Amino acid sequence: MSDKRIIKIFDTTLRDGEQSPGGSMNHEEKMQIAQALVDLGVDVIEAGFPIASPDDFRAVQEISNNFKGAEIAGLCRCNDQDIDRAWEALQRAEAPRIHVFLATSAIHREFKLNMSTDEIIENAVEGVKRAKGYCDNVEFSTEDAVRTEMDFLCRVVEAVIEAGATTVNIPDTVGYATPAHMGDVIQGLIDRVPNAGDAVLSVHCHNDLGLAVANSLAGVEAGAGQIECTINGIGERAGNCSLEEVVMAMRTRSDFYSCDTRINSQLLVPTSQLLSRITGLEVQRNKAIVGRNAFAHEAGIHQDGMLKEPTTYEIMRPEDVGFDKTDLVLGKHSGRAALADRARSLGFELDDDQIRSLFKQFKTLADSKKDIADSDIASLIEQQLAASET
Ligand code: KIV
Ligand code: ZN
Repeated sequence: MSDKRIIKIFDTTLRDGEQSPGGSMNHEEKMQIAQALVDLGVDVIEAGFPIASPDDFRAVQEISNNFKGAEIAGLCRCNDQDIDRAWEALQRAEAPRIHVFLATSAIHREFKLNMSTDEIIENAVEGVKRAKGYCDNVEFSTEDAVRTEMDFLCRVVEAVIEAGATTVNIPDTVGYATPAHMGDVIQGLIDRVPNAGDAVLSVHCHNDLGLAVANSLAGVEAGAGQIECTINGIGERAGNCSLEEVVMAMRTRSDFYSCDTRINSQLLVPTSQLLSRITGLEVQRNKAIVGRNAFAHEAGIHQDGMLKEPTTYEIMRPEDVGFDKTDLVLGKHSGRAALADRARSLGFELDDDQIRSLFKQFKTLADSKKDIADSDIASLIEQQLAASET
C-alpha cells in the first residue's frame, strides 16, 4: 500500500480560467473541456458561477446533468439568491458541491464590502448553513485570505467549519504570498483552529508574482489537502496555479512531498492543446510540462547525453505527460552525435568521413536558417552522396 497522501485536484478552468481576458468559451467548447477534465481524472470541476449569466447557469446545469466521475462545483457569493441559483444548476449532479465565497481581508472589508468583522462571520455562517440545507458538500472560500489578519482568519475558518463547511479554501486572490508565507498560513490554521481537522483545507493561488505553483506546493507541504488550479494556468490577470505543473511536481518529487493525485498525466498535453485551440490562448514555448520546448534539446552536449542516457538531461519522460518523444532539435548549437542519429533515422547509413563532411555543411546551413527540417538534412545528404558518385 502506498503511504502517499492523495491531494484533491479542484479544476477551475471553466470558472476562474474562463474569467480571464481572452479565455471565454462557448457552450459546446465548455462541454468539450468538461469531458477532457473528467478523462484527465480531476476530483472537482468548478463548472461556473451560475448567477453570473444565463450562459454560466446553463453550463453548470448541463455539466451537472451529464458528466459523471467528478464532483461538480458552482460558485456563489454569500447571499441567498446566489446560493439558491447555484443549487438550481447543480441539483442533478452525481456529486454536487456548493462553493460559497466572502472576502475576509481588511482591504476588502473596508473598501468593497463595508462590513465589520462580526458581520463577515455572521454572513459567512448564514451562507454555509443555507448551502448546507441543499447539499452536504459545501466549500467556503475566504477571499483574499492571505492578506487577512491571522487571528480573524482563524475565527472565520472555525465558524464556517462549525456551520458545516466540508472544505475551506484559502485563496491568495491577488498573488501576494510567498511560499514560506503560504506555508505559515496553512500551518497556522492547522495549529490554531480547534476544528480544522473536520474539513479539508484547500489552496487557491494566483500567479501575479509567478509563485502560484510554488505557493500551492508550500500549502500542501503544510497540510492542505486540495489544490485549486487551471489547465495551462489560465485565469484572472497573470492566471492561476497551473494544473500540469503542480501535478507533475508532486509526482516527480513524490520522494519529497509524499503526495500524489489521481490525474492521468498522459492526458496533460492533449488537454492543454485542446484548451489552447479552443480559447486561442497560446502556450508559451518554454512552459514547463506542456510547452513545445519542454522536452526539446538543441545543445550538442545535451543531445549527446540524451542519446547515451535520457536521464542525463530529463527528469520526466515525455510519454508520461502525453508527448510522443523527446525532440532533439537540429540547430546551430547541435552536435555531431545528434546529426548522425537523425541521418540514421532518415534511413541513411553514413561512415565517419561522410558524417564529418555533412556536419560542416549542416553548420553552414544552421548559421543562416533557424529551423532545420528533416527535409533539409535529407537534401544535404542526397547532394553529398550525388557529389561523391560523380
Ligand atoms: O481568487 C479568488 O479568491 C477566487 C475565489 C472566488 C475562490 O477565485
Ligand atoms: Zn481566483
